[in-house]
Amino acid sequence: MNEGFEVTPYGVSGDIDYDELVDRFGTKKIDESIIARFAQLGPVHTMLRRGIFYSHRDLDWILSEHEKGNGFTLYTGRGPSGPIHIGHTMPWLFTKYLQDTFKAKLWFQLTDDEKFMFYDHLTLEETKSWGYENALDIIALGFDPKLTNIFLDTEYIGTMYPTAIKAAKKINFSTIRAVFGFDNSNNIGSIFFTSIQTVPCFLESMLQGRKVPCLIPCGIDQDPHFRVTRDIAEGLGFSKPALAHAKLMPSLTGSEKMSTSTKLSDTIFMTDDEDTARRKVVNAFTGGRVSVEEQRKEGGNPEICSIYQYNLYHFEPDDAKLAQLLADCKSGNILCGECKNRLFEKIWTFLEHHQAEREKARDKIDDFFVRD
Ligand code: TRP
Repeated sequence: MNEGFEVTPYGVSGDIDYDELVDRFGTKKIDESIIARFAQLGPVHTMLRRGIFYSHRDLDWILSEHEKGNGFTLYTGRGPSGPIHIGHTMPWLFTKYLQDTFKAKLWFQLTDDEKFMFYDHLTLEETKSWGYENALDIIALGFDPKLTNIFLDTEYIGTMYPTAIKAAKKINFSTIRAVFGFDNSNNIGSIFFTSIQTVPCFLESMLQGRKVPCLIPCGIDQDPHFRVTRDIAEGLGFSKPALAHAKLMPSLTGSEKMSTSTKLSDTIFMTDDEDTARRKVVNAFTGGRVSVEEQRKEGGNPEICSIYQYNLYHFEPDDAKLAQLLADCKSGNILCGECKNRLFEKIWTFLEHHQAEREKARDKIDDFFVRD
């Protein structure tokens, strides 16, 4: 058992053991029986088949609600503290698959307040402006404007505040301190904040005046917020939100979470130009050997290779081709240079399309945003 890692919304450290995390957090694995239910609805998304979205709370209940003809709503979010990179878009692409598959409404929260309170280097004006920048990347992914509400906390607080304080009254400081690892030096805004991340679970219910089930697709690092939410939901007259948890996409250095706080060269941003993106892929950490001869003889190690992980997460959706790549790598048939070139071509196709859509999104902001 690997004890030497930590995962909270405000910090990830060590080598994450995802199976161990399921035990620690008390979630359930997404198993074959759940995947079979998705298969009834159409092709199963790559990230479900490959165990990228691998853990859940009450996802079986959400599927049952759907099968009974009851609707449910989706909720996810983004803390706008800087530009969007490929890792951020992974759960959102999955969210889009859920929206398309279930024709479900999506509430997309931009927590400009959170990033202001947690980062000393950002002003509120900056986090808000990152919110609008990030919204372009979100819209560019192709969410349905009729089924998607994007909002900035500071612009939707009038709607959220009554429920936020009702939630806050049910949460003790001792819980927050334990769940998030805070101490007496945390500012009081950050202690209150989880009640703001709680409210969107209930926005659809508030709007419709009845209990509407809510499913939150998110990185597993966000689970602590929603553990708190689930403990108080019924006391507030709502259903507990359900969750589907993703593993965190590794950075190009091979370390666990792609993050905007690591070096810029470790991550590919959605607005990187072709040369910049190519340079990052070429310099990425792989599972290659020290020499060509050794690699031909011993083969590479895809388990630790960031290039392989990118293929696994998204860029090689064809299972047969991925299996071939794995075999070619392990047998020393393919060398890292070629593998990087192949991945880069796919990444650039993705980015080029995204960047065009992102420009078009500038005129679509008002089709998506809700404000008080
Ligand atoms: N707190 C998240 C972050 O820092 C943003 C967020 C708000 C979120 N609501 C969410 C993420 C719901 C996932 C699901 O990135």
